[in-house]
Amino acid sequence: MRKFFRIVEGDLESFIEFDRAMSWPFVSESAKKLLSYDEYARRHEELVKRLYSSNLENFIRLAVDEGGRVVGAVWAGIRVDPVDFIPICYIYDLEVSEDSRGHGIGTKLLSAVEEFCRLKGVRRLALTTPARNKEAIEWYRRKGFAISRVYMQKEL
Ligand SMILES: CC(C)(COP(=O)(O)OP(=O)(O)OC[C@H]1O[C@@H](n2cnc3c(N)ncnc32)[C@H](O)[C@@H]1OP(=O)(O)O)[C@@H](O)C(=O)NCCC(=O)NCCS
Repeated sequence: MRKFFRIVEGDLESFIEFDRAMSWPFVSESAKKLLSYDEYARRHEELVKRLYSSNLENFIRLAVDEGGRVVGAVWAGIRVDPVDFIPICYIYDLEVSEDSRGHGIGTKLLSAVEEFCRLKGVRRLALTTPARNKEAIEWYRRKGFAISRVYMQKEL
């Protein structure tokens, strides 16, 4: 059955609350050994606020179900591309609760970001996702994204 949801403007605090819970499973096991959940939550909030204030402009939308529960969220920010020096819209997070996936919520949130870009005259959207997140990579490919840079890391 088609799930009811609506897309609403979101404030930073509501986004942080939703994203904190959604992002915890993405934290690596090695990092989890060093971080309690409370410490993670503190650092998460601090980092989101720092990045938010460094953007030229921010865009947050929440997907809310009939009971008022947040079931999806997107946060994107306009910033300057560090290679091409043009304004780009960077998607920091786009996520939908596990039990609400496959109902078009992610598609609607992404469309809202694209509409925001058109309005602002921004012509490039970018994001980073873990290489192991094959499903999301495939989803973004279907939405017209292509891999353009490779982020590499080395454990010391
Ligand atoms: C990737 C993610 C955001 C997709 O969100 P979603 O709400 O499940 O995505 P959608 O429902 O819009 O799209 C999934 C499929 O559902 C189907 N669908 C079902 N009902 C639909 C509707 N009413 N409208 C559009 N698509 C619908 C489509 O077939 C769609 O296929 P597509 O992938 O070819 O577009 C979600 O899986 C997620 O949160 N993953 C975990 C977090 C993550 O990995 N985030 C991305 C990295 S930052």
